[in-house]
Amino acid sequence: MNFLKYLSFGTLACLFTLIFFGGYVSASGVGLSCPDWPLCPAGLVPMDEFLIEYMHRTLAATTGLLVILTMFFTLKSKSSKRGMKLAAIIAAGLVLSQIALGGAVIVEKLHALLVTIHFAIGMTLFSMLILVTVYAFQLPPSAARKKIASTLGKT
Ligand code: HEM
Repeated sequence: MNFLKYLSFGTLACLFTLIFFGGYVSASGVGLSCPDWPLCPAGLVPMDEFLIEYMHRTLAATTGLLVILTMFFTLKSKSSKRGMKLAAIIAAGLVLSQIALGGAVIVEKLHALLVTIHFAIGMTLFSMLILVTVYAFQLPPSAARKKIASTLGKT
């Protein structure tokens, strides 16, 4: 399997979990349980009082890193198509804006318009990553894999 298939699918799965936690933060009304930005009151230490919000932020940081890595390897890959590169660049731009906007949501104490934009960007980011993943699954097998397959074919 191509490395980008694992990476993009893993990133998509991480983003899905993050969105799930975001929905839970919103629906259970714990959006301001962690009132500081960028870290929670106990720094990097998770505590019961803000565990859900802490998970949302930790997953956001992990997803951010994975989306940037996906863009990096997509741009580096010789076989990735233009559409895949474009979707990966847009996803990276969106994830950075989304993390900054998450901070604004806290500072502005869950302003309704900001929360709505936060949700809309989350959905657009998810769509971009689905695109990248679909493209990744259409990539030809890597040269090393082709070589192994042809060697096995000869024996
Ligand atoms: C890639 C990064 C992120 C994504 C995709 C994301 C996605 C989401 C989603 C889908 C929701 C649910 C919105 C709704 O139901 O209306 C949500 C809620 C929320 N997010 Fe994020 N989020 C991200 C990063 C962050 C960051 C870094 C913070 C910073 C603290 C943050 C703070 C919040 C808060 C406070 C809520 C709850 C808003 C409320 O109470 O209604 N998010 N997020």
